[in-house]
Amino acid sequence: MFEGFSSNKRRKVDNTESKEENKPWVEKYRPKNLDEVTAQDHAVNVLKKTLKSADLPHMLFYGPPGTGKTSTILALTKELFGPELTKSRVLELNASDERGISIVREKVKNFARLTVSKPSKNDLEKYPCPPFKIIILDEADSMTADAQSALRRTMETYSSVTRFCLICNYITRIIDPLASRCSKFRFKSLDESNAMDRLQYVAKQESVICEDGALEKILIVSSGDLRKAITLLQSSSKLRNYTGTDKVTSKQVEELAGRVPNDILGELVEKIASKDLDAIIAYVNNFAKSGWSGVSVISQLHDYYIMSDNFDTAFKNRISLILFDTDAKLTNGTNEHLQLLNLVVQISNI
Ligand SMILES: Nc1ncnc2c1ncn2[C@@H]1O[C@H](COP(=O)(O)OP(=O)(O)OP(=O)(O)O)[C@@H](O)[C@H]1O
Ligand SMILES: [Mg+2]
Repeated sequence: MFEGFSSNKRRKVDNTESKEENKPWVEKYRPKNLDEVTAQDHAVNVLKKTLKSADLPHMLFYGPPGTGKTSTILALTKELFGPELTKSRVLELNASDERGISIVREKVKNFARLTVSKPSKNDLEKYPCPPFKIIILDEADSMTADAQSALRRTMETYSSVTRFCLICNYITRIIDPLASRCSKFRFKSLDESNAMDRLQYVAKQESVICEDGALEKILIVSSGDLRKAITLLQSSSKLRNYTGTDKVTSKQVEELAGRVPNDILGELVEKIASKDLDAIIAYVNNFAKSGWSGVSVISQLHDYYIMSDNFDTAFKNRISLILFDTDAKLTNGTNEHLQLLNLVVQISNI
């Protein structure tokens, strides 16, 4: 009887351990404290000061995806309160939770008005435990304007016991009166050297060996989004297991990211330059069958033409307009094949 119990227990523990192992790398390597957040020096330095002085304004974090906004606030709350007290002092709501006006009126307001729970002696010794709670409204740009309006009074009324942290990608979608109540922290796209350090760290921890230039390729493809970069590294390393090669190569990375390989893009550009309509149509028909995403073709053609010194400004202007127009049409859900053909023919006619 006793043995059965203990073996049962052991199985449970094994399960949680393997769960930890199987976590996606983005979660496994989510910064656990503020020091691990790379590149966002401004935000991190200011927030570190609050760890010492224990006063915190309402905050608004904004910036592109995968730059560390959610990670930063989670790391801050952990460092402020420790794992135990966090449960009673922090309310986190994100886009997966209903955050319409009724929730703001009830759940948020009720939590905001609560008096702060007392920290245990143990927590007090280890963490600053400032005398307020924190409400994190992640992905706040998806909240309706009404729900945001309803927050205005709540933020002011309970500011003695509650601080708000709003997080969004697009600051323009936060109504002005809310934005003006908060200290704003801009999270910038990670530049290559910072992101590279973190990516190399993850690759080393997971013993992934990469060919020269493969990590650089991952960073180019993910354009400043570290989440995308780490995910791509994980998928590339999985692919490596299947193909039996021992290194992650740039080609695999491109393949996984759905980017058109340079030689194929080169062929497309050559066909455009030839201005031979029949050849262009035949090539695009074939090209479309390979299933490249139209948006990625546009962005790569953009890089090719606009970044090159071989074309004059007037030509680049016209190309930009055509690319912009096609991009807008694709976003509206038009037929990719037709748009691609139209795009290529228009460029060849310039
Ligand atoms: N500055 C950073 N330092 C270290 N790791 C980072 C950083 N930014 C992103 N990451 C990695 O990317 C993952 C996602 O980051 P996070 O959730 O903080 O992004 P976010 O800015 O909140 O993005 P979104 O706007 O899409 O919610 C983290 O788990 C972490 O692995
Ligand atoms: Mg986030």
